[in-house]
Amino acid sequence: MGIRGRLASRTMGNRGYVMPRPSLTLVFGRTSCGTAASVLMWDGRFGSLEEQAFGPFRPDGEMGIDIEDAAARISRNPNYRLQFSHAFGQPPSPEGIVAALAAFERTLVIGNSRFDGFVLNKDERALTPLEKYGLEVFTNRGHCVSCHTIFAPMVSAFPLLTDFEFRNIGIGFSGDGFRDLGRGAVTLREKDYGAFRTPSLRNVAVTGPYMHDGSLASLEEVIAFYDAGGQPNPNQSPILEPLGLTDQEKNGLVAFLHTLTDLEYQTTPTMSRAPSEYDGAQVYER
Ligand code: HEC
Repeated sequence: MGIRGRLASRTMGNRGYVMPRPSLTLVFGRTSCGTAASVLMWDGRFGSLEEQAFGPFRPDGEMGIDIEDAAARISRNPNYRLQFSHAFGQPPSPEGIVAALAAFERTLVIGNSRFDGFVLNKDERALTPLEKYGLEVFTNRGHCVSCHTIFAPMVSAFPLLTDFEFRNIGIGFSGDGFRDLGRGAVTLREKDYGAFRTPSLRNVAVTGPYMHDGSLASLEEVIAFYDAGGQPNPNQSPILEPLGLTDQEKNGLVAFLHTLTDLEYQTTPTMSRAPSEYDGAQVYER
């Protein structure tokens, strides 16, 4: 389910099954009230972290196993049994697995980037002149903040760079229609065809390829896509229009997007360690 966030850009499920969409960055944990937690999937399928944790547990799903079998398998590992009894006072169970996964996801917060230094700590030196110029383009000429809202005060005091809305920018549209209906597959309303949740842009410089289908390889390609006005289609957001950005404006935008990277998140061992390293290891100490 991409529990390590999008640092693994295309999550490999068990048995090497390549997930149809890159995982969304998980940044909403500790800041979350109900609304913030509900932004996890590209098409808004799941309402809570717990529900989302259940999702991949199907024999044909991302985990390749249903949750009862997963609980049985985990129960065979003495170390997991011990950890479950410490955490929940009972043996591994489907509810326990889901609660543990959701609790872990709530600790995944990215908030120590240079952007945060500049915006939250008012540290003028946190950004270079080019990066500040990029922020300017992001908020004005590029209209990026119309969707990648820096502050969403109704939801969080923490800048998330998403408005939590479903927006159509045209990714995956061709003359034949939408390759993936996105939100439309959930609501079955034609006007939602091709709309996807505006993703947070935190750590975006290290989480390519981009868009729900991974169709854009680099941030430069993303900027070129927006500069051209997105991919016109019957449902496209009216906010998008050809921008005619100069090379300097494009370079500024790319430089700015790099300031959203929180290196601490990538190097914190519990965040970057492969799950297999936990197997059989004594990771819980009282
Ligand atoms: C109309 C709303 C809207 C505007 C305006 C907008 N975006 Fe987006 N952005 C989205 C949506 C929705 C997606 C996801 C689309 C998809 O996957 O199909 C997205 C995806 C992205 C991604 C890829 C993120 C990822 O995790 O794959 C980047 C980078 C990005 N936008 C940057 C920008 C920049 C820079 C601008 C301004 C030039 C901008 N966006 C303007 C809505 C918008």
